[in-house]
Amino acid sequence: MPGSVKALLLCLPCLLCASISLAQEDGRQLFLDNCAECHQSDGQGLDNIYPALAGNETVLGSGADVALVLRIGRGEMPSFKDALSFAEMAAIINYVRNSWGNSGAEISAEEVGKLF
Ligand code: HEC
Repeated sequence: MPGSVKALLLCLPCLLCASISLAQEDGRQLFLDNCAECHQSDGQGLDNIYPALAGNETVLGSGADVALVLRIGRGEMPSFKDALSFAEMAAIINYVRNSWGNSGAEISAEEVGKLF
């Protein structure tokens, strides 16, 4: 095997890790920009005004459920249908489903797109 190919293969895992942590970082930043104003940066919301997303049933339920909330909006919460791309929504959904003690399977931009 040529040395350059070998080097590439050796590098692949680090590239994958870099892109995963990049996606998480994006999700965090997108959450801070679009959601934290109401749900707060620690995901705890504000008592009787904005629900906590930490330990939230909808958030823990499935990525698709969260995507539907983003699509339709809810109560005072606006729809993010025209404000965010499917990739951005997926990054935010994966962030909220895996932060503050939450843990859930990841959803892809394609899966989010199918719900719209
Ligand atoms: C303007 C304030 C506001 C912003 C911005 C906002 N939300 Fe909300 N969100 C709310 C309110 C209020 C509710 C509860 C609505 C209701 O049930 O009447 C809610 C509900 C939710 C729910 C459902 C929770 C449940 O208990 O059913 C999810 C999930 C959610 N928001 C996620 C997000 C995400 C992710 C973002 C950013 C993309 C976001 N929200 C941005 C105000 C906001």
